[in-house]
Amino acid sequence: MGAMTEGQPQLLAFAGSLRKGSFNRILLRYAILGAREAGGDVEELGPEHLTLPLYNGDLEGKGAFPEPVEVWRAKIRQCDGLLIASPEYNHGISGVLKNAIDWASRPPNVWSGKVAASFGTTPGAQGTARSQMNLRVCLSAVNVWVVPRTVLIPHAKDAFDANGDLKDPRQVQALTALGRAVVQAARSGLAEI
Ligand SMILES: Cc1cc2nc3c(=O)[nH]c(=O)nc-3n(C[C@H](O)[C@H](O)[C@H](O)COP(=O)(O)O)c2cc1C
Repeated sequence: MGAMTEGQPQLLAFAGSLRKGSFNRILLRYAILGAREAGGDVEELGPEHLTLPLYNGDLEGKGAFPEPVEVWRAKIRQCDGLLIASPEYNHGISGVLKNAIDWASRPPNVWSGKVAASFGTTPGAQGTARSQMNLRVCLSAVNVWVVPRTVLIPHAKDAFDANGDLKDPRQVQALTALGRAVVQAARSGLAEI
């Protein structure tokens, strides 16, 4: 399935962090809200879906992949769009996210023709700016259309209140707008071009 011009776009939302207290996973909530407001059907995938063996060509036996990789690939294949919360590790994306991208890119590349938005937060001042650039390069390689705008949230340790909600309504608004944009992009059919 690729992007659809009509009907309800199917979206997946996930974070490139496995840890329970992930700041990035919290951001998904807002992008999901925006996507649902715009009429998208969103499924959030937890860390269990991104817990895949490290990519190893020897594990690709006769067109079959390890079981968790098959599940991951099927999820990606069946969606129209993606909401990706990406942390920043050493100015790049996390190994977890890169590994998940690599597995799903193996022939047939199940990313092809999807639309995506990515965003992120870090305790530092750059708010994942460098990893977002890195992620865009990887998503282009696998033929994913990425919404040009991103949302970067610096100083993650001060950005959330005691309930774990984002304090700044402008950040909430920006994330929900990004969620809506992915649904619109999926509906536009641009990824079919
Ligand atoms: C190996 C490693 C490298 C990191 N490199 C960076 C970095 O380059 N820039 C940055 O802003 N934060 C960096 N951090 C801090 C992460 O942004 C921080 O751990 C963040 O909370 C991870 O996202 P999460 O909360 O969603 O798990 C790094 C953390 C780790 C574990």
